[in-house]
Amino acid sequence: MDRRPIGVMDSGLGGLSVLRVLRDQLPDESLTFVGDQGHFPYGTKSQEEICRLSLSIGHFLVEQGAKMMVIACNTATGAALPTLQRELPIPVVGVIEPGAKAALATGAKTVGVIGTESTIKNGAYAATINRLAPDVKVISHPAQPLVSIVEHGKTGTSESQAAVDDILSVFDQEPVDSLVLGCTHFPFLTNEIQRKMGDSVHLVDPAIETVQEVKRILTEGDLLAPAGNGDQAVHLYSTGDKLDLQAGANQWLNGMYETCNHLDL
Ligand code: DGL
Repeated sequence: MDRRPIGVMDSGLGGLSVLRVLRDQLPDESLTFVGDQGHFPYGTKSQEEICRLSLSIGHFLVEQGAKMMVIACNTATGAALPTLQRELPIPVVGVIEPGAKAALATGAKTVGVIGTESTIKNGAYAATINRLAPDVKVISHPAQPLVSIVEHGKTGTSESQAAVDDILSVFDQEPVDSLVLGCTHFPFLTNEIQRKMGDSVHLVDPAIETVQEVKRILTEGDLLAPAGNGDQAVHLYSTGDKLDLQAGANQWLNGMYETCNHLDL
């Protein structure tokens, strides 16, 4: 049994799409989240820069007493997962391998992947899916402009639908069975994306499989918080304007957090 928090990071609000599943599936766990909004977006940065930023957040989470770390960011997972696993003294999980497994679990023969410029250029999704299932066809497209739409609170608008329709029109000529939401900001655009892709396309949110992996690691390491302990807490930090993170958390976590502070990193 271990009451220490799970540390979670993203470049911005996207990580809240993972945090809400953690909260839902592991309700006894305390969570400490860093949104690196002071350095948003990650998707257009170099691999080295993303790695450096992710590592400094990892060190902060370790200082906060985190018992494990979840990289709730596909871009940071693609650029920094092995480095963080090597450098930090706690287990670290990313979202790409769980996302790839979740896509394959749908039975898809053709899998689409949308992500940031960095994630798609890095090719980690296609490589992981084809390592697990060499015969599956992977069609990857960057969708970087959708990240800002979510970060700036413009989901559920005609502007967000128009952007989704425009960017995902690349799939009109290349139909897919499943589409991986390979950026943690994108689950907040599920309605727009499903509308564009049609009901027959299975949308894959890697968060669900990621949280299963977290549960497995905590269980195997005897690191789960005691059931029903009642003292679990969610602490949020933004390296940018904490009011932006607060607004996102009020919308996407229904305001279920204890504190939200600015963090200088
Ligand atoms: N939410 C992030 C991801 O999953 C990164 C978005 C960005 O900062 O460009 O890739």
